[in-house]
Amino acid sequence: MFARNQWYVACTPAEIDDKPLGRQVCGERIVFYRGAEGQAVGLEDWCPHRGAPLSLGRVVEGRLVCGYHGLEMGCDGKTVAMPGQRVRGFAPIRSFPIVERHGFVWLWPGDPAKADPAAVPDLKWAQDPAWAYGGGLFHIACDYRLMIDNLMDLTHETYVHATSIGQKEIDQAASSTRVDGDQVVTERFMNGVQAPPFWQMALRSHQLPTDQPVDRWQICRFSPPSHVMIEVGVALAGQGGYHAGADQKVSSIVVDFITPESDTSIWYFWGMARNFRPDDKALTAQIRDGQGKIFSEDLQVLVQQQRNLLQWPGRELLKLNIDAGGVQARKVIDRLIAAEQVAAPGLA
Ligand code: FES
Ligand SMILES: [Fe+2]
Repeated sequence: MFARNQWYVACTPAEIDDKPLGRQVCGERIVFYRGAEGQAVGLEDWCPHRGAPLSLGRVVEGRLVCGYHGLEMGCDGKTVAMPGQRVRGFAPIRSFPIVERHGFVWLWPGDPAKADPAAVPDLKWAQDPAWAYGGGLFHIACDYRLMIDNLMDLTHETYVHATSIGQKEIDQAASSTRVDGDQVVTERFMNGVQAPPFWQMALRSHQLPTDQPVDRWQICRFSPPSHVMIEVGVALAGQGGYHAGADQKVSSIVVDFITPESDTSIWYFWGMARNFRPDDKALTAQIRDGQGKIFSEDLQVLVQQQRNLLQWPGRELLKLNIDAGGVQARKVIDRLIAAEQVAAPGLA
């Protein structure tokens, strides 16, 4: 079950630059490509001739040409031509609202009449030259809500990421969760701790000492449909922590766009936006590398957890204090899905 009247990250611009991309999002099989003006397009991945996936074809001057018998599809989902055929009677295929913004291609899988491009999340770091972004994409066989749980409860870092960002104090510092409309915020502050290896690297890259205690923070922000932005950082201890001056801290935003493919699989767009040394491409690559390794540790857990849940669907799960962020985020999602179903019964 997904909220459909929402913008989801479907792909990165580079994925559709030179060939069509077939990708399932929220249960819809979609072909993404660039039209004649270079604009990103999303159509049902279905050729009205014999049902072949259009994503197996190619793009010729902005027209998508089916790779089976050469049908030419227009960006609006109407067949333009087919060798030796009249195409007037061909049924149109569905065309999805698409926006390319902030370095991502966004898809609206729900009612096109409700798709407002202004509702694409405003990612300030994506337009500001003082910030740099690096990230990647994982396909993971798990329910998108398991990934939200994971990101809203960073207690797991102590165990899953013991060699990079984990540390025992995460367990010991209680987190707090608050709900603000459709946003859920879970935060944790750890004062006077030793910086774990990832943050030592970040401190070094910012010319700050690594042998002094630091104040560390993690502020996880969930927003619909399934985005989690996490403000993370460390400051030299006693300098104000999160509010310390820029020369006393290193901080960044862990960016997570979790796009459901099906009920039990996701496209996970992960990355990090940072506002220190934004022009240092080697640092961007180094951080991306480190983050990729960290998130592949989550991947292992989530895939196996999903298998367990499918095998024992009736077994009860606990909801502890540490689970509050994920529990509240699920409530927001459930509320949005319920509202959509009242407005348009049968949509799910
Ligand atoms: S299936 Fe596409 S042209 Fe025949
Ligand atoms: Fe993790």
